[in-house]
Amino acid sequence: MSLDITPVIKGEVVRFKNPSKRFYEAIGGEDGMKKLMYNFYDKIYESDIAHFFPQDEDEFEKVKIKNSKFFIQICGGPKVYQNDAKGLELNEYMIRLHDDFSINEKARVEWLGTMREALDEIKDVDEDIKKEFWNYLDQFSKLTVNSFSDGSEYYASYTQALEDKED
Ligand code: HEM
Repeated sequence: MSLDITPVIKGEVVRFKNPSKRFYEAIGGEDGMKKLMYNFYDKIYESDIAHFFPQDEDEFEKVKIKNSKFFIQICGGPKVYQNDAKGLELNEYMIRLHDDFSINEKARVEWLGTMREALDEIKDVDEDIKKEFWNYLDQFSKLTVNSFSDGSEYYASYTQALEDKED
């Protein structure tokens, strides 16, 4: 089973489903998620999109912590990111947060490719469980893209996101 990246299309409605708790439990809960996200960000530091992120170590550490908390909650773990989201639904807050950065498809592909490397290094989790987490990342990340190859900008709104709630 492969973790494929499907292309973003400007303005398209994006369907996504929050990851189920299966992935969160399989990687070992809060500690497992932290491990995955710290490994991911260590790789981001070496990637083509390193310049998007704080170069100051303390600031970068804050991003790592917040990122881990977000993924713990979005995967069905304890609601540790709730206050950071300033009362908004988590995904809605995430779309808005990324509006502050000029993100194009190339940056998205680099981000996803880096995450895929980090996921590949987890050896004891079934591919179909990883795939379910991946599908959320592949789809949701389309809503963080706001700069397009024709030079235009388009900021996705939460109304463009169709969150699939049923199982
Ligand atoms: C599935 C897609 C994505 C998710 C769920 C996600 C999630 C997050 C989270 C949780 C944070 C920390 C938020 C906080 O400060 O409270 C963050 C920050 C950030 N993300 Fe993403 N992200 C995604 C895709 C991307 C992509 C494709 C890029 C492309 C460059 C990107 C660039 C950034 C940047 C620049 C920051 C902020 C760093 C700072 O605070 O200076 N993200 N993201």
